[in-house]
Amino acid sequence: MKLDLPRYTERFGAISLHGVQRVYELDSGFNNGRTASETVQSIGNDEISEIEKKMAIVIPIKGERLKLLEGVLSGIPHDCLTIIVSNSPRQPVDRYKLEKEALEQFNRFVGKNAIILHQKDLGLSEALKQVGHTTIFGPDDIVRNGKAEGMITGMLLAKMAGKDYVGFIDADNYVPGAVNEYVKIFTSGIAMSKSPYTMVRISWIYKPKVSESGLYFSKWGRVSEITNQYLNSLVSYYTGFETEVMRTGNSGEHCMSIKLAELLTYSSGFSVEPYEIVNILEEFGGILPTENFDAMDKGVEVMQVETRNPHFHEEKGDDHLKEMFNGSLSCVYNSKICPPKLREKIIEDLRGRGILDEGQDLFPLKKISPFKDIDIHQFAKILHEKATSFVHSV
Ligand code: GDD
Repeated sequence: MKLDLPRYTERFGAISLHGVQRVYELDSGFNNGRTASETVQSIGNDEISEIEKKMAIVIPIKGERLKLLEGVLSGIPHDCLTIIVSNSPRQPVDRYKLEKEALEQFNRFVGKNAIILHQKDLGLSEALKQVGHTTIFGPDDIVRNGKAEGMITGMLLAKMAGKDYVGFIDADNYVPGAVNEYVKIFTSGIAMSKSPYTMVRISWIYKPKVSESGLYFSKWGRVSEITNQYLNSLVSYYTGFETEVMRTGNSGEHCMSIKLAELLTYSSGFSVEPYEIVNILEEFGGILPTENFDAMDKGVEVMQVETRNPHFHEEKGDDHLKEMFNGSLSCVYNSKICPPKLREKIIEDLRGRGILDEGQDLFPLKKISPFKDIDIHQFAKILHEKATSFVHSV
């Protein structure tokens, strides 16, 4: 893959927030490590392939159409470990069983390494309880509903499988070729990064919508513009310079090194992606005290790469847009580093949009603790013994 070197970087404590980088060639051949020019870097196929072997791709899924899941599976490079974490209904039709069968059939033909697990499996909750990772539980002492909860379960499975990197791809993508591009971007970003603490986020070139006059190639989602605006305001407040660096606040498609992933605190449901950025600013921004000395020393890199493929996914309607909107702004609003002026602005904005009433406040987010200290061997042992939905096919 041939892509821009970061042209612009916002430095915030130990964090390097790189501006959006463009892809020039999806496949740039085997010229490993060759710099195509002073501003463009070529990541050769051998290097990409080596990183893919160390990467797990987590697909969170809840009741998506099987045809879409099958397409997504076919887009993931063979050497990555595929991990499906499902929260699909098991009654009246056992949708999880159908997903498992589709995965097993796919694997039979391609001979691939894959894991599938249901988020509500009591054996999973038992394993998490035994290792003390209970902030992911609801009041019933089992893993809560939510995309973040699925992603975190997937990260634990990736760590358990000994992977160094973990990426996330939604199950409702219509274009297998786009899925393939996301993973190539993940691996290229990792190859370019100078720190072991790295995150690579996808910025979609277009998110097309069907309109009466045909396809409209819009650039921004309805929530993402506002999320980015407030994340940028948070950065600007401390640097004293306005910035537009953050463009991927809500990006569901992103990857991290496990070394970074295990240090972060996560927030529940659909606020997970913007909160990753807020938590990185909290942990490594040099404003609050931290115990993560190695990351402070080596630095944390956040890359944002614009795809060549447009993003075609299932449109779910407006139901959870409000949840996403509130969740995204709540991340900033409730952060320990959010200045009072910015908090006031967020509340005014939400009242102006009729989302909050006078006197009403933004709900605090449910947080999930970092997983760096959990005993992953103990977790694996109990999961293998107790989780009835768990399948690891090689
Ligand atoms: N395991 C699991 N558990 N998966 C879930 C759950 C859950 O409780 N809820 C949703 N998912 C899966 C969906 O099946 C899908 O694969 C993925 O998570 C994203 O959910 P969607 O319902 O399709 O979300 P969206 O398309 O509105 O929003 C997506 O894009 C946003 C950026 O535009 C999500 O990825 C957001 O997180 C992202 O911010």
